[in-house]
Amino acid sequence: MDIITICKDKLPNYEEKIKVFYQEHLHLDEEIRYILEGSGYFDVRDREDQWIRISMEKGDMITLPAGIYHRFTLDEKNYVKAMRLFVGEPVWTAYNRPADHFPAREHGRRLSFLCRHLIRVLITNGAGNRFLRGRE
Ligand SMILES: [Fe+2]
Repeated sequence: MDIITICKDKLPNYEEKIKVFYQEHLHLDEEIRYILEGSGYFDVRDREDQWIRISMEKGDMITLPAGIYHRFTLDEKNYVKAMRLFVGEPVWTAYNRPADHFPAREHGRRLSFLCRHLIRVLITNGAGNRFLRGRE
């Protein structure tokens, strides 16, 4: 694991990185985040290809399965400190949409049918339903 702090003063190339995080993409490995401080939003696609916005704050953990299209953005606080969990070497490579040719995408496509339910399970803080319909 490692720890990333996303804010103007602490993250090199902040403006560029923020844009990259917000570009819709997938990974060939799970993306697991545990929020230590601050807050932000993960957006994922549901079965109708609409965004589901997930509000993340201190104490929340999320697992985005391989092959799931998603993006991340900060909220108005412009600050988050998160633990990035991975097995072995981290695989940060982001494949921007369209990236449907990867075998992981088939897995992700099947999961998107269950997405809303799955995300409820994957968010582990028990704080209740904090999903918002996504904005484009
Ligand atoms: Fe990602």
